[in-house]
Amino acid sequence: MLVSASLLRRTHPVVCRSSAPVSLLYLARRQWYSSSTTGFEFKDKEVVVDGVKYPKDEWTNVTPTVLSKLDRKLHLQPRNPICIIRHLIESHFNGYKCFNNLSPIVTTQQNFDDLLIPADHPSRTKSDNYYFNKDTVLRAHTSAHQLEGLRSGADKFLISGDVYRRDEIDASHFPVFHQMEGLVYFDNDPAKIAAQVQADIESNALNSNNIKLVDDTVIKPSNPIQERHMEETVKPVAAHLKHSINSMIRTLFADEPNLEVRWIDAYFPFTSPSWEVEIYYKGEWLEVLGCGVVQQALMDKAGLHNKIGWAFGMGLERLAMVLFGIPDIRLFWSQDERFVNQFTPGQIQKFQPFSKYPPCIKDISFWLPENTWNENNFCEVIRGVAGDLVENVKIIDDFTHPKTKRRSLCYRILYRSMDRSVTNEEINEIQENVRTSVQKEFSVELR
Ligand code: DAH
Repeated sequence: MLVSASLLRRTHPVVCRSSAPVSLLYLARRQWYSSSTTGFEFKDKEVVVDGVKYPKDEWTNVTPTVLSKLDRKLHLQPRNPICIIRHLIESHFNGYKCFNNLSPIVTTQQNFDDLLIPADHPSRTKSDNYYFNKDTVLRAHTSAHQLEGLRSGADKFLISGDVYRRDEIDASHFPVFHQMEGLVYFDNDPAKIAAQVQADIESNALNSNNIKLVDDTVIKPSNPIQERHMEETVKPVAAHLKHSINSMIRTLFADEPNLEVRWIDAYFPFTSPSWEVEIYYKGEWLEVLGCGVVQQALMDKAGLHNKIGWAFGMGLERLAMVLFGIPDIRLFWSQDERFVNQFTPGQIQKFQPFSKYPPCIKDISFWLPENTWNENNFCEVIRGVAGDLVENVKIIDDFTHPKTKRRSLCYRILYRSMDRSVTNEEINEIQENVRTSVQKEFSVELR
């Protein structure tokens, strides 16, 4: 089901300027913001972004809501916590080449194939990604640029940028977030690698003791060394990876009391062995990064047959939420001065909460035509209509009629603006549009 169909199917081209404040409200009210400078345009047969035409096909599911985020680039806004964290990490990884301005519009080759992600891998589905068409997608991770980085000639680099994923809606999920990718490679010579690792470890000792670090992972058949690698080479490479990441975490969290960090085994198509790092925060383990020894086939694609490398990919919002004490992921996007003016480049400061504008809560319930249901697609329709005004969508009732066996769902939608008070009137209008779109997209029977 094409989530955004009702938004894309328009007789008149729609032009939106992506920097328009509360641009999503324009969407909801069907008053389109137009601009002849930078922007994007939905035409019958193509989506145009900054003059580049992307022909539409059955994969197209990008929405004006998500494209309106393209030029925000929070990682480049000096006072935004995302940018502050990026800088701090970049300064820690001294000497790494930094790429911060690569376009988030990438080919499916870059986002998936280059990374050895199989053709039938679930991460490719339309319900998880924003496609322009079958060959072009908004990058879902900064790993989409690993090969470009490898081909750049730099033997250690960082790539930061905005990434896009269709997702549920709540305080810690937003369809756009930011990641940083890191990659380092060495000559495939065990003695040389070991010497370099030793030197790096000595120059960057782990001396803070406010962090309890648990790593009981061992290399084993279920998380193996690659066939083409030798144990004596992989061991120092893995040691360098782990030291580099642990020291980065210790630097970032130097002032955070009693932090617990743990390493666990993981799986990624583009690394082996692979791990994840988690941080214990407010009673739960948060996954903050994935990493591992780069698949040699990927190094080969860049012509680096005789090199061996490690890589990581890390979400910046989660780190920023912990470090700055920011309770809601949407706040990063706020243009409210009470948020924007709180932060200073180069400094980690705790967020001072200010009173939130009042919410407006509406329920929607309906009978499903059949038993299958995709919540991401549902949330996307709501986001398409209500834009950033939707703060949270949660299911409050899931009921199957004992006789007819029909299934009925009820969702509670919390609307709130980060920047102003919403009126019941405008939310009623949006809710009406949500109901109509949901009914059309999913052929449900509204109750
Ligand atoms: N790209 C992965 C994700 O977004 C994270 C990741 C895992 C990046 C392992 C890496 C890596 O570079 O080596 O889930």
